[in-house]
Amino acid sequence: MGGPGVGVGLMRSVDSGVMPQPPRIAVTTTPAATAVSAPPSGERGIMVPQTSRADHVCKSRRSPMEFSELVMKRRTVRRFEEAPVEREVLEKIARLGQHVPSAGFSQGQRLVIVTDRDQRRRVAETCGESFYADLDMGNWISECAAQFIPCVSEAVYRRRYAEADKGSTPVAEQDWPTPYWWIDIGKTSMVVMLAAHDAGLTAGFAGPQDVPALKAILGLPDEFHPVGVIPVGRPLPDVRSPSLKRGWVPFEEFARWDRW
Ligand SMILES: Cc1cc2nc3c(=O)[nH]c(=O)nc-3n(C[C@H](O)[C@H](O)[C@H](O)COP(=O)(O)O)c2cc1C
Repeated sequence: MGGPGVGVGLMRSVDSGVMPQPPRIAVTTTPAATAVSAPPSGERGIMVPQTSRADHVCKSRRSPMEFSELVMKRRTVRRFEEAPVEREVLEKIARLGQHVPSAGFSQGQRLVIVTDRDQRRRVAETCGESFYADLDMGNWISECAAQFIPCVSEAVYRRRYAEADKGSTPVAEQDWPTPYWWIDIGKTSMVVMLAAHDAGLTAGFAGPQDVPALKAILGLPDEFHPVGVIPVGRPLPDVRSPSLKRGWVPFEEFARWDRW
């Protein structure tokens, strides 16, 4: 990291604002590097018509109450009906999961949606499903309508930030203060869970214990990493996580005004 020429800490780009900037890259004073300070041409223009920000916010915003209710009512559910859910409903959830921000608009996130019964069982095994069954929580990872498996490629981000408008830094020289691929796949995961609830379904989240096995079962390209398994379906009565006894961190501890 570091390097001749421009101090990268002052770099600004459309998707990540002011410093700190990932990756800390070796910016040179070549014409290509100069382009770093300018918004990548056409990046946003391709996606949305040219409207003022105020127009866009007014037209697309749902009522705050509706959104608050969705967020406050969502919870991790761990028991589902296995009855299938219409493909269009699952596809709508997936389409919403795609529509999230990503650093540099890299879009290194992918979703694998598993509905096949046997495949769901194979996937659930990689999350140690028997552990939950032994706790009388049931086979909640496999017995569902569908599993949404968010996957992400670090390599996509590194290749994107090796492009001219991001400084042309060779992949091997990039130093990311915050690995944005993990942030972006978290956003995808959250939207999938909220979209499932919004569709009148519910969702859980299980961490894969055997990632190589999960990758093999899904036939993932090597550079993609599955971060979780999100079972989705109509809810059945379930066992709540003992972790919930911890309660919420007080809001005053969570949110700090102006400084810590
Ligand atoms: C990254 C992540 C990993 C999780 N892994 C598991 C898991 O492996 N098994 C499980 O039962 N719940 C898992 N959860 C669910 C959490 O236990 C749950 O979100 C938390 O207890 C708060 O409950 P709530 O989602 O109902 O608000 C995970 C959640 C997240 C965000």
